Amino acid sequence: MYDSTAWTLVDEGWGRRAVDFATLSEPGNCREYVAVHQHLGIGDGDRLLDIACGAGLALELAAARGAEIAGIDASPRLVAVARDRSPGADIRVGDMHDLPWDDASFDAVTSFRGVWGTTPIALQEIHRVLKPGGRVGLTVWGHIKKSPGAWALGPFRLAAPPKVDNQRDMVSLGRPGAGEELLEKFGFTGVRRVTVPFAWEFADPATYARALASTGPAYEAIQNIGEDAFAAAAIEAATERTRAGLPLRASVDVVGYLARKEA
Ligand SMILES: C[S@@+](CC[C@H](N)C(=O)[O-])C[C@H]1O[C@@H](n2cnc3c(N)ncnc32)[C@H](O)[C@@H]1O
Repeated sequence: MYDSTAWTLVDEGWGRRAVDFATLSEPGNCREYVAVHQHLGIGDGDRLLDIACGAGLALELAAARGAEIAGIDASPRLVAVARDRSPGADIRVGDMHDLPWDDASFDAVTSFRGVWGTTPIALQEIHRVLKPGGRVGLTVWGHIKKSPGAWALGPFRLAAPPKVDNQRDMVSLGRPGAGEELLEKFGFTGVRRVTVPFAWEFADPATYARALASTGPAYEAIQNIGEDAFAAAAIEAATERTRAGLPLRASVDVVGYLARKEA
């Protein structure tokens, strides 16, 4: 059941370390931004909306390709960073289930690990705000367990069991056929699944632990076991992966869904 006020609680977890997230975590996602923008052919003249835009790095990169950018995120503290990075852009605080833009406003909509199996109504909203023929590109975690970098997401499982169950339901959108079925259900055509490059890199275990702690799911774990225990678990997991002369590297399977609104 959709709770129209739930989004207002998101900032408690996602916003509390907005500067750490923007500088230590989000830059590691740049490969997926570049790949999806390339798949969608983002360029001059595109009016693009990024949903759950976080601290706005994907928006900045879309603008660098010539797009006119808009974004929305539930976290005011992340939106403050996004606005600082892209002054003058239309970046709003709000709920992806109730987008504050008119029908047929955008040529392209993206969301990078922002729309999940638990948030299907966001797809209805994306369809509404896209112009006829408009393109959508979404990413979600794929098969985490088979990923070489699965260790880097492991500390999220230190959250209380109901939160871990919810994380699993969110990630279900990456399963074979799941996103295809949902996008078609909401009226998208030409739905395609692509593999998206994704690799986090960190200088050392302490930097990794600090970066991870800035995320929403880490906050759920911290609420369960405390800040110090979370940091210790993260540092221990990363210490086993250190390599002389090379960064800590965590490649994770990420699924991209590409589709269009009927022209
Ligand atoms: C996994 S992060 C992805 C952030 C960004 N897209 C990136 O690539 O780093 C999920 C984001 O979704 C935002 N979020 C969660 N629920 C939301 C909602 N109902 N409406 C808008 N944003 C939401 C969070 O604040 C957070 O920035």
